[in-house]
Amino acid sequence: MALRNILIHPDPRLKKVATPVASVTDDLRRLADDMLETMYHAPGIGLAAPQVGVMDRVLVMDCVKDEGARPDPMVLINPKVLWTSEARNVYEEGCLSIPEQYAEVERPAEVEVEWMELDGKTRREKFDALWATCVQHEMDHLDGKLFIDYLRPLKRQMITRKMQKLKREMARG
Ligand code: NI
Repeated sequence: MALRNILIHPDPRLKKVATPVASVTDDLRRLADDMLETMYHAPGIGLAAPQVGVMDRVLVMDCVKDEGARPDPMVLINPKVLWTSEARNVYEEGCLSIPEQYAEVERPAEVEVEWMELDGKTRREKFDALWATCVQHEMDHLDGKLFIDYLRPLKRQMITRKMQKLKREMARG
């Protein structure tokens, strides 16, 4: 396993629609392993392949937050939303590609998702609470969408300018 470099907004790769995965290969298994390691290391609760510059429809997540609780790493390949609740939920979201910026985003409170597992099998599950927000946030990444796209333009521009400044500072080292 290896840590991958997380792209920081703004980056054209974060605005692209990712491509469906045709089959599970060794490369894909390596990617999923690396993404989980990168996510836990950050630390974060979700990461989508475009955030490490790979334009595949793959995401990883683990929303278990209680200390001492057993981790629950999930790998979702080609995830699809089957159903969303009418009830909505507001969470303060952040993103590993937009470090240290947080804002409230409203999304469906529950969502049913179908995806392919690393063993090639199809799995279906209903998510709620933080898991629902996380899976929707990560699926947005696969369509080139960021949580700041839900914010008002002024707030979004403010965050984008901060990220441009951060990237200039990082480039200077
Ligand atoms: Ni994100």
